[in-house]
Amino acid sequence: MQTPHIPVLLNEVLESFSAVPEGYFADCTLGYAGHSSEMLKAYSHLKHIGIDRDDEALAFSKERLAPFSERSTLYKGTFATVLPTLVEAPVTALLADFGVSSLQLDKKERGFSFTSETLDMRMDASAPLSAYEVVNDYSQAQLEYIFDTYGEVRSYRKLAGAVIQARAKEPIRSAKALSEIAKTVIPPGGKIHPATLMFQAIRIEVNNELGEIEGLLDALEATHYAGEVVSLITFHSLEDRLVKNRFKKWSTACICDPQAMRCTCGKNHAIGKALSKKPLTASKEELKINPRSRSAKLRSFRFKSDSGA
Ligand SMILES: C[S@@+](CC[C@H](N)C(=O)[O-])C[C@H]1O[C@@H](n2cnc3c(N)ncnc32)[C@H](O)[C@@H]1O
Repeated sequence: MQTPHIPVLLNEVLESFSAVPEGYFADCTLGYAGHSSEMLKAYSHLKHIGIDRDDEALAFSKERLAPFSERSTLYKGTFATVLPTLVEAPVTALLADFGVSSLQLDKKERGFSFTSETLDMRMDASAPLSAYEVVNDYSQAQLEYIFDTYGEVRSYRKLAGAVIQARAKEPIRSAKALSEIAKTVIPPGGKIHPATLMFQAIRIEVNNELGEIEGLLDALEATHYAGEVVSLITFHSLEDRLVKNRFKKWSTACICDPQAMRCTCGKNHAIGKALSKKPLTASKEELKINPRSRSAKLRSFRFKSDSGA
């Protein structure tokens, strides 16, 4: 079966789960089941839950995972909403490989690429908010906020102004037209396409990507299992910061006010430990075959087992 997406950091992901106890493996971003199929092959003591908000990805993965159908259940929805409702327990391994898939990016009609004739960018094609509404209906202040906060675009004010000016003449109907507007503000010739950061910002807004990550981390903070390992792959600093900070909080033993003269909390508040201090990144070999892996960072965290280890 030809797959439209190469799983990133596959060996590192498999390795991170090498010592998990029997239970469920939850893949929160199933995509094309690249990671899931290898996990199912490698770890026969684990059953599988696959979550995705994209119908196309779910249909493809259902077929790909047919040989494992007795061990696998798939759910449509966003991981932050599905996770707290799962009845399967215990989840001992959990993976999220954030962001969009290569197929979503490459399929022109999904509206993620700079040359798309549509303006969509929804991972879930039935979701109410698309890039069209963001670009054509948001106020200048809202556009400035998302370009600045989610895109870290330096000339975010100018860019928002250019969008407002263009849409005053006629609605902006395609990603192609939008990327032409970006070129009028950000000159081509830099390391990345002039529209890259603006598209990132709009995609994050449309799919509530950072809110979803926070929701996933909140769900794990509220409910996790003894010995559960969580492996999270991020693709830009906004995502990585959320994960890094939460793992830091979870591994901090002392919760006293930093100004306090001495510790009174008992210093036993850590709920687990990160598997490595620094995030894992792609090897030279992987970078050669999959350029998309260049910005991937994997952080893994193990929740304490019953024995406290
Ligand atoms: C990078 S791809 C995952 C690829 C997968 N690991 C593989 O090897 O085939 C990300 C997938 O997660 C889905 N996704 C992203 N955010 C999501 C969310 N908040 N809830 C559910 N699915 C999400 C996307 O629709 C996409 O199919």
